[in-house]
Amino acid sequence: MTSAENDAFANIMRLLAGLTDPLLSSLASLPAGAHVVQLGCGTGELSLALARRRPDLRISAIDIDSAALDEGRAHAVQDDLTVDFREMSMAALDFADDSVDAILSRMGLFLPGTAPFDVSARETARVLRADGILSIAFWANLADSPYTAIGISVLRKILPEGALSDMESSFAEAARPALLGSPLADAGFRDIVASGFDWETEYPSFESWWAFDAEFGPLKALFDSLDENQTIAARKLMADSMSACLTESGSYRLPARARMITARR
Ligand SMILES: C[S@@+](CC[C@H](N)C(=O)[O-])C[C@H]1O[C@@H](n2cnc3c(N)ncnc32)[C@H](O)[C@@H]1O
Repeated sequence: MTSAENDAFANIMRLLAGLTDPLLSSLASLPAGAHVVQLGCGTGELSLALARRRPDLRISAIDIDSAALDEGRAHAVQDDLTVDFREMSMAALDFADDSVDAILSRMGLFLPGTAPFDVSARETARVLRADGILSIAFWANLADSPYTAIGISVLRKILPEGALSDMESSFAEAARPALLGSPLADAGFRDIVASGFDWETEYPSFESWWAFDAEFGPLKALFDSLDENQTIAARKLMADSMSACLTESGSYRLPARARMITARR
């Protein structure tokens, strides 16, 4: 990875790390040798965390991004962990029916833009064995991720009216069916328990946050479109809007909220 990619990766993990414990705690009852699959694993940090805690499990991590999978394989070698990284879509899982003991996902399953929710829910149900465990977290509201909540509120004050509305409404629409849990119920899941999970994510400085929010991901193109004066104004607005989250050490502790679902097949 280049150093910019390294920084971006560290910034994403700062945001998502708070979800590791609640997601993995749902798998505590799995016996040795159980097969766990992570959907939309990216670089697979969640699977690697599981492998670190439970080396007795068989863990597969799937994604369609071969570069992210290569990163995951490199981390596994570096940390001497065993995770089988496989290039695969969650819309067409290459696992036998009823063969998987648990499915895990952090901002993969039910992430807008990945795969139609009904298709991925059906595939998840197909490969899980009867009584198999599902443990997932996803963004269910644009305002729940500090990335979008802070970035969009700043851009809204600077860009012309309407410039952001498509993004906001398509995210809200895309998240609606998953919020209601209907794709899982329709796919045959039972004991569906949905809850909101709140945590705080810490960025060591304003610059580390700016690099994440304004120079990475879907908001980057919008921040890049600002001229020099608008960028200065955006930085000031952003710092002001985060001032209540500033700690004595100069870091920012930002609130985040995700939707968590556990269910049984
Ligand atoms: C927000 S990232 C996931 C972050 C990762 N789960 C973590 O916890 O570190 C979303 C991932 O979904 C993957 N993805 C998108 N469409 C997919 C599909 N149809 N099947 C599997 N993965 C997909 C993307 O390549 C990306 O790596």
